[in-house]
Amino acid sequence: MLHLDQRSEALTAFRRVAAKADAHFLAPAFCDFLTGDEQAATAMYGGRAFTQYFRAASESIVFRNMYQAVDNILRTFPPPDDTFTVVDLGIGTARQVQRIVEWIPHHWPQVRRVHIIGVEPYDHLATIAQTQLETLTQVTTLHVTYTLVREYAQKLDTAAIVRQLPFGRLDLVNACASIHHMRQGEKWHLLRVMRSWAPRLFLMSDADSDHESTLPDLSLELIANVTSFYTHLLALICSNNPDDETAACYRGFCFYDARNILMETGERRIEFHTTADRWKDYLLEAGFAMLPPQAEWLADIDPSMSQLHADRLIPAQGKRSLIFQLAATPSGGSV
Ligand SMILES: C[S@@+](CC[C@H](N)C(=O)[O-])C[C@H]1O[C@@H](n2cnc3c(N)ncnc32)[C@H](O)[C@@H]1O
Repeated sequence: MLHLDQRSEALTAFRRVAAKADAHFLAPAFCDFLTGDEQAATAMYGGRAFTQYFRAASESIVFRNMYQAVDNILRTFPPPDDTFTVVDLGIGTARQVQRIVEWIPHHWPQVRRVHIIGVEPYDHLATIAQTQLETLTQVTTLHVTYTLVREYAQKLDTAAIVRQLPFGRLDLVNACASIHHMRQGEKWHLLRVMRSWAPRLFLMSDADSDHESTLPDLSLELIANVTSFYTHLLALICSNNPDDETAACYRGFCFYDARNILMETGERRIEFHTTADRWKDYLLEAGFAMLPPQAEWLADIDPSMSQLHADRLIPAQGKRSLIFQLAATPSGGSV
């Protein structure tokens, strides 16, 4: 928790940007902030409430469209032979991986076997993923095997994944809204380790915003980025007129994220979204080549996703997407 003098300075900054951004849903975060309510500052993925918020969010337009874009990119990817191996970083409830497995028989009939390596640091989410994957093995026509690695992605080393590859080859590393949970140096480390796994393809979907450690805690710019980003995200996610209970989950989801960035320092700060442009630089430095975006990637994306191109509060950021999709492959290798 921050000191009182830092809090009142940040509150003044927040009031300035919140008035402009209509970010009233963030006001309770600042109440906790003023009263120094430690109890309200529970770790983001630690609580049952957040799991409920995330489950709702993963069915929302934003996550459904990120998942759809991944399906579309896979469609343009040279198909694997008999076996498909995927590492999912931050597998969460296994919602997306389940969708990929259901997609395979419709597009890659030659694939008979799938091996999933799910990386998930939080026990209660890993338990949900395990139940989901177990059910999946029973209902799919494919031969599905899986392992769950209960670890933070940035703590993985080369061997941690290589020894889990039963077929000796890695087709896909997928990271959906998960590898922004680490500081800049940890991101660099993870991407270099990931390069050593030599995946045929790396896919990343995430928020295009700058909440990284390059911005000082509680700088006006950080506060403005957070306020602007989550206000737009919440407006988009609620654009399908959800019922009251679902809307409350969406607010909770955005609120926890924003609160973590604004209120927490040290170990408890776990949200460090980085812009798509900076992720590209990190990937290039780590030895990946970017695949140029193709029109097909956006096939069947909900038309209201055009609202993703939101005006940002910070003029220099201009009009840009809230969410991005990147596809990369190890440089020097062919997909
Ligand atoms: C917003 S959820 C997305 C889950 C899943 N990828 C999906 O799209 O359905 C973020 C996930 O990243 C996980 N996560 C958080 N910190 C992580 C870290 N340091 N390394 C790997 N995963 C992490 C969370 O526990 C959670 O499962």
